[in-house]
Amino acid sequence: MVTLPFIKNSLISIDIGFRNIKIVEVEVGKNNEIFIKNFGIASTPKGSIKNGAIKDVKSVTNEIKKVMNEINVKTKNAKIVMSGTNIISRIFLIDHIPGQDLSVAVRNTISQNMPIDMDAHQIDYKVLQELKENGSSKLKVFVTAVLKSIIQSYIDILIELGLKPISVDIPANSTAKFFNRDIMVNENETWFKKKKYSKLSQNTFAVIDFGSETTIVNILRDRVLEFNKVILRGSSNIDEAIAAKLYKKLDESERLKKIHGMELPETNVSEEQEIIYQCIKGVIDDIAKQIYQCFEFYEKRCYGDKVGKIYIIGGGSLLKGLRDYLEDVFTVPVYPVSLLSIEGIEINQGLDSERLNYLINSVGITL
Ligand SMILES: Nc1ncnc2c1ncn2[C@@H]1O[C@H](COP(=O)(O)OP(=O)(O)OP(=O)(O)O)[C@@H](O)[C@H]1O
Ligand SMILES: [Mg+2]
Repeated sequence: MVTLPFIKNSLISIDIGFRNIKIVEVEVGKNNEIFIKNFGIASTPKGSIKNGAIKDVKSVTNEIKKVMNEINVKTKNAKIVMSGTNIISRIFLIDHIPGQDLSVAVRNTISQNMPIDMDAHQIDYKVLQELKENGSSKLKVFVTAVLKSIIQSYIDILIELGLKPISVDIPANSTAKFFNRDIMVNENETWFKKKKYSKLSQNTFAVIDFGSETTIVNILRDRVLEFNKVILRGSSNIDEAIAAKLYKKLDESERLKKIHGMELPETNVSEEQEIIYQCIKGVIDDIAKQIYQCFEFYEKRCYGDKVGKIYIIGGGSLLKGLRDYLEDVFTVPVYPVSLLSIEGIEINQGLDSERLNYLINSVGITL
C-alpha cells in the first residue's frame, strides 16, 4: 500500500473583538485535525469598530501586522471572525412544500417578518429540523442577516494585510463549529457530584462568550446551533462601575476586577473589597438576567429545550468566582473551556497556555 504524504493546509485566522484581536496560525490535517502553530493577541485600537463594522481599517491592520511579524506568520490564506454586534439571527417555521425553492421561501418569510433591507444584507440560512404542526409539514430554519457593507469592511482588512480572504464568519458560527467536537471534561469535579441536583438532558447546552463589550449567548441542541443573541453588556461595564464608585481610572479598575473577582474573603472584608464585589455583582446579575431571558425565549418561542449545561468562553469568563455564581443562578453545571480539552486539537509546545482560552472563536472558524 502506498501512503500519501500528509497534506496540510496552513491558515491564519483572525477574531476581531472590541478589546482584543486574536490571531492564530494553524495547520489543518486531512482529517480536520488542527495544529496550532502560533498565536498572538493585539489590542484593538479604541474606537476602531462602530456598530459592528471596522471604521478605521488602517489602525486595525497596523496592530495586526505587528503581531503577525512577531509570530512570524508565513501563510496567506486567511479567515476572519467579525465583531458580534449588528448580526441578526432568527428562527422561523416555514411551510414545507415539496418541490418549492427553499431559498425563495426563506426570503419571502424574512421580508414579511424582519424589518431589514433585503438587498443590503447577506442572508444565510440552515434547516434545523422537519416537523409537523397542526397536521402540516414545516421546516424549522435558522436565519442570519448581516449588512454587506459590514462584511466588506472585514474583507478590506484582509486585503490591506496582503492576505487571501477565504471566509468572513460570525462568532456564532465559529463557536458552533468548535463545539461540534468532543469536549473532555473531568466528570469527577463536576457540579453534579458537588451538588446532587437532578440530571437534566445535556444534549441542549449553551455556550456563553463573555467579551469586553458584548456577551454572546449561543444555544446548541445535538451540537447544532439553534439560538444566538448578542447582549450589549460585557466585562468592560464592570470596570466602568468600579471606576465610578471608587473614583479610579479604568485600567486600575480593570486590575481590581481581575484581582478580586466575585470572591469575598470570609472575614475582614475591607470597605473597598465590598464595593468592588457589589459593582461586579451588579453587572453580572444584569447579564445573567438577560441570559435567563434568552433561555426562556429559546424554550418557549423557538421550539427549544431546557438548557442542561453551560460552557463559558471569552476573556470575561476568567472572572474569579463566575463559574460558581452562574451554577447557583442557573442550577446547571458550568464549564470553562480550554483548547486543551477539545478532541483533534494539538498545540505547539511552548505556547503560553494561560492565554489560549481566548482563542476559541479564532480556532473555531478554522475547523
Ligand atoms: N482574569 C480576568 N478576570 C476578569 N476579567 C478578565 C480577566 N482577564 C480578562 N478579562 C476581561 O476580558 C475582556 C476581554 O476579553 P475578550 O478578549 O474575550 O473580549 P473581546 O473579544 O475583545 O470583546 P467582544 O467580544 O465584546 O468584542 C476584558 O474586558 C478584560 O478585562
Ligand atoms: Mg469576543
